[in-house]
Amino acid sequence: MHRYIGILGATGSIGQQALEIIAMHPERFKVGFLTAHKNAELLIQQALQFQPEKVVLTDKKAYETVKETLSAHAIEVLFGEEGLRKAIASSKIDLILVALVGFAGVLPTLYAIQQKKAIALANKEVLVVAGALVKEYLQHYQVPLLPVDSEHSAIYQCLVGEDKATVEKLVLTASGGPFRTFSKEALKKVTVQQALQHPNWQMGAKITVDSATLMNKALEVIEAYWLFDIPAHRIEVVIHPQSIVHSLVYFCDGSIKAQLGLPDMRVPIQYALGMAVRLPNQLPRYVFNGALTFEPPDLERFPSLNYAYEALERGGNYPCILNAANEIAVERFLKEEITFLDIYRLIEYCLNHVPYEQQCDIETLQQTDKETRIIAKQWKT
Ligand SMILES: NC(=O)c1ccc[n+]([C@@H]2O[C@H](COP(=O)([O-])OP(=O)(O)OC[C@H]3O[C@@H](n4cnc5c(N)ncnc54)[C@H](OP(=O)(O)O)[C@@H]3O)[C@@H](O)[C@H]2O)c1
Repeated sequence: MHRYIGILGATGSIGQQALEIIAMHPERFKVGFLTAHKNAELLIQQALQFQPEKVVLTDKKAYETVKETLSAHAIEVLFGEEGLRKAIASSKIDLILVALVGFAGVLPTLYAIQQKKAIALANKEVLVVAGALVKEYLQHYQVPLLPVDSEHSAIYQCLVGEDKATVEKLVLTASGGPFRTFSKEALKKVTVQQALQHPNWQMGAKITVDSATLMNKALEVIEAYWLFDIPAHRIEVVIHPQSIVHSLVYFCDGSIKAQLGLPDMRVPIQYALGMAVRLPNQLPRYVFNGALTFEPPDLERFPSLNYAYEALERGGNYPCILNAANEIAVERFLKEEITFLDIYRLIEYCLNHVPYEQQCDIETLQQTDKETRIIAKQWKT
């Protein structure tokens, strides 16, 4: 029997790689729906190739283009939040890959869980902002969630067959990004183009900048906390520039388990879509032919990890402030309105100025997100 997959964010880097995996396993997977924000052209191509029941666009102009182009096809074209809900609720869908970026993924993910769909989660910001709520929903609706992020997929795989009580600590690996060896002085002058050159991974613009600031790893520490129920002080980060060891778990007997492979997101995407069943593929294999090195992160030059541990300690809407401030900081950096080091200054300003709330429901989080974005957009260097 086929597993019907819905992809939120099909035109992004993760969405496109997920479609490659689906195309490799036509006997297992079918596409139920695809969504995009603005990229009408690519969504049309994908729709024609994979023939989903529905496609959704959240940008009005893109929606109109796609609706007109696909009018002769048996593919329903939907718009906006209502369209997303209709696609998510479709009875055919078994699993939803959340490959949106940023806060935009929070409501669709919560709704997908309510609809009792299995979740493959790439959109880490969902757990950063609303980890407590997502966990509550998963328990209440009895829905499985599989991580897509390579580090969390690695930890998930290391934990298969293990008793959680025997876990001593989790260690997330980080490439260190393109500026790993830069001095603080050199970091003052880095350009957008340099920040977008990740040494090992081809990814969307936001996560690529997050990797350069190490904010990606900060978000992943918070993500790991919610996924694996491990106290923050037992989640560590190590810099591993080759990105071959995707993460590690230390156990109480001194053993360490790790998952290794080439830096290729199609591997963890396939593991998540397969719901933790290993499927054969012809993807390139890693050959041991050089040193695998590890070093501690430098929190002085790249302070993002400090924000993550602070966010986990404070809880409430603090991680939501961190996330929204970072989203706007990255957006403004990409528009060349602020410098690379301003990203940290802007985030710290928001963390110190947006009112803190301990008790958070979804409305509080939406309000915090909105308020933080306004403050972050107004911030001046
Ligand atoms: N890329 C990777 O290798 C990688 C690895 C690990 C984790 N992740 C995580 O996976 C998520 C996706 O990353 P990505 O690199 O694939 O991002 P991306 O390439 O920027 O793609 C984002 C997708 O979301 C859609 N989108 C953007 N804004 C939207 C909005 N406001 N409403 C609805 N849809 C919207 C985009 O549509 P349009 O194309 O139409 O704009 C696109 O389909 C992120 O949370 C990232 O941290 C990515």
